[in-house]
Amino acid sequence: PFDAYNELLEQTPVRYDENRKCWDVFRYEDVQYVLKNPKLFSSQRNRSNQSLLYMDPPKHKQLRDLVNQAFTPKKIEQLAPHIREIAEDLLDPHLANGRIDLVHELAGPLPVIVIAELIGVPTTDRHTFKHLSDLLVKGARDDSEEAFQELMDEKAQAHEELEQYFTNIVNERRQALQDDLVSLLIEAEIEGQKLSDLEIVRFCILLLVAGNETTTNLITNAVRILCEQPELQQRIAGQPTLIPTTVEETLRYYPPIVAIGRVASEDVVLQGQTIQAGQQVISWVGAANRDERKFAQSEQFVPDRKPNQHMGFGFGIHFCLGAPLARLEGRIVLETLLAKMRNMKLEAGAELQPIQSAFVFGVREYPLGFD
Ligand code: HEM
Repeated sequence: PFDAYNELLEQTPVRYDENRKCWDVFRYEDVQYVLKNPKLFSSQRNRSNQSLLYMDPPKHKQLRDLVNQAFTPKKIEQLAPHIREIAEDLLDPHLANGRIDLVHELAGPLPVIVIAELIGVPTTDRHTFKHLSDLLVKGARDDSEEAFQELMDEKAQAHEELEQYFTNIVNERRQALQDDLVSLLIEAEIEGQKLSDLEIVRFCILLLVAGNETTTNLITNAVRILCEQPELQQRIAGQPTLIPTTVEETLRYYPPIVAIGRVASEDVVLQGQTIQAGQQVISWVGAANRDERKFAQSEQFVPDRKPNQHMGFGFGIHFCLGAPLARLEGRIVLETLLAKMRNMKLEAGAELQPIQSAFVFGVREYPLGFD
């Protein structure tokens, strides 16, 4: 999509799309304005979904302050040795083959294993758990109405099974608290009120939906840019201290989420156009991240870009809760790959299939060869 952004940034920075019945906002400054004004642009698009992601203040802040405790950079950093172990366990069996199916054998499973452990899913349940959480973010097999319906049924079923599954875990933890996220949520109070089972369960499901495919795509998109630019790969392999800023630049250049939705709560004028109360507004962070007004040489991948105020994790009160975890996983996977492999490349003849969602940037498979 990135080629198209240039013209949109210059010609139609704020536009109404009659077909999709929504506003599109492309420039950095305007996207930032939308995301930092939750009073004007509400996240409550979807009344049936009561998760953090769709809450507005003040309710949002109460829950967010609470769960932030589990996702501070300091807490997350303690997971580093263990995440490295998981990455090596996934990678090592493939080293002798000179190839790995990056999405299915490393970038896909890693975030699921990490989040399962953080929540407190027993290791023995991991396969069921992975299967169900994959279903939640699965795309349809084709564009037909039939495939769509089939998918929706499958998802509803997976959602129900996960609710049941997490409800059981909550019940077990109520008997005996452990050192995991579910236990933390059981003990927590908001204004003297405990969370209900359902609230805890919904939050766990949100973590799966928000954190797994996004992190898979971050890892895959990072490796992809290193394969597209071999001299960049050599440079970073020789200077691994560049890896953290390379992860940030991936979030700017190939962000896993390129668009974020809101609904206007009042009439707002943006770039001389009036967005009416009740209308949908799509903030294209993928375009904002390429806005030359904000980023010099925005078309270039600059592995040590500083500052790098990309919006790959959003902006404002809904800024990604899992950002410290996603950054850490991205960093560790790149460190592990670059330490153990030389000359990573997309396998000859492989054709990249984009994930079928306008909001997501990623590929379904990435067959990776190496020496
Ligand atoms: C919110 C991106 C990984 C949990 C967001 C938002 C973005 C985002 C753009 C803002 C949405 C909005 O404003 O409406 C990403 C990307 C990731 C990633 C690109 C990986 C590279 C994770 C992980 C977790 C997670 C690993 C959890 C373990 C959440 C949650 C929210 C959120 C709970 C909602 C926060 C709130 O509403 O206050 N993420 N995310 N994300 N993310 Fe992430």
